[in-house]
Amino acid sequence: MKKNLLVLISVLMVASMLLTACGGGAKPASEGASCAPNCTYKDMVLCYPQLGAESDWRTANTASIKETAEKLGIKQLIFSDAQQKQENQISAVRACIQQGASVIALPPVVEDGWDAVLTEAKNAGIPVIIVDRSVSADASLYAAHIGSNMELEGERAAAEFNKLLPNGGAILELSGTTGSGAAVGRANGLRAKLNANIKIIDSQTGNFTRAEALPVMQAFLQKYKPGVDFQGIFIHNDDMGIGAIEALKAAGVNPGDLVIVSVDGTRGGFQAMVDGWFQADVECNPLLGPQVFEMALKLMNGQTIDHEVLTDETVYYPDNAADLLPTRKY
Ligand code: AHR
Repeated sequence: MKKNLLVLISVLMVASMLLTACGGGAKPASEGASCAPNCTYKDMVLCYPQLGAESDWRTANTASIKETAEKLGIKQLIFSDAQQKQENQISAVRACIQQGASVIALPPVVEDGWDAVLTEAKNAGIPVIIVDRSVSADASLYAAHIGSNMELEGERAAAEFNKLLPNGGAILELSGTTGSGAAVGRANGLRAKLNANIKIIDSQTGNFTRAEALPVMQAFLQKYKPGVDFQGIFIHNDDMGIGAIEALKAAGVNPGDLVIVSVDGTRGGFQAMVDGWFQADVECNPLLGPQVFEMALKLMNGQTIDHEVLTDETVYYPDNAADLLPTRKY
C-alpha cells in the first residue's frame, strides 16, 4: 500500500515536470520558446492588443502589423482593438497569456499601470515587446521597446518654432492622450528646447483624434485671438491638426496666419503643408511591423536583442510636400 502511494507520488511529480516543460509556461523568456533555437515564423503566435483606431497613424500601424504577419506566414496573429481604453488592453494581454501566445507586442495607450500584467506575462514565460509608446514599468518586466523617440519629436518641433518665431511669441499646444508616452515625450521635448522668448500660453488634450480636437480648438479661439494673443500652435498629431484646421477656417483664419507645427507625416499632414496650414511636420513612423516580427522571432529562438530600438525619423517641410505626397505610404 505504502509502496503504491510512493509510485503514485513519483508519477505525479514526473507528469507535472513534463507539463511545465511542454507548455513553456514557466520558462524564463530569455530561454526562448520550446522550438528554440530552430523556431520559424510558422511556429509564431503573436499577440497584438492594438490600443485603438484613433488616427491615420494608428490605421497604418495596424495595417503594417497585419500585412507583415500575412507576408511572413506566421501561425496566428491575435489582434484586438482596445478603443483607447487601458483596461481593454490589459484584458487582451491576459487573454493572450491564457492562449499561450509566443510573444506579446504591446502598443500601450498610457505609460503607467502595466506592472501587474507585465509580471503575469513574465511569469508565464511570454516575452513582451513594447511597441510605439513607452511604459513607466521597470525595464526588467519587458524584453524590449521598439518605437519613436517622442521627446526628440518635441525637441524638433521646438526647433521649428525657434526658427519661425525668431522674435518670440505665444503658442498653444493641442496635446495627445493624457498620460501617453507620445504626449508626455512631445510635451517635455518641446519645453526643453523652446526659446525663452516663446511662451506656451495654454495646453489642452484632443486625445489624438480629429473629432476631439475640433471643439478644443473652438474653445481656444473663444479665449485667445489668433495673431494677437498667440502666433503659433504645436499639435501632437496630424489628425488633431486636421480637426483644428476646420475650427480655424470657420473662425476666418487663413493658411499662413499662424505658425503650425504638427507630428506624424501622414498624407493628411502633407496635404495640410501643401495647403499652407502646417509649416513643418515632424515624422513619427507607424510602419513597425517588420521590426516587431523580426525581434519576436529572435526572442522565440532565445537570441539576444537590443532593449531599446528607436526609429530613424526626420522633419518634413512644405517646399517639397507636393512632390512627396504621392509617395507617402500612410
Ligand atoms: O503613439 C503614436 C501616436 O499615436 C501618433 O502620433 C498618433 O497619430 C497616434 O494616435
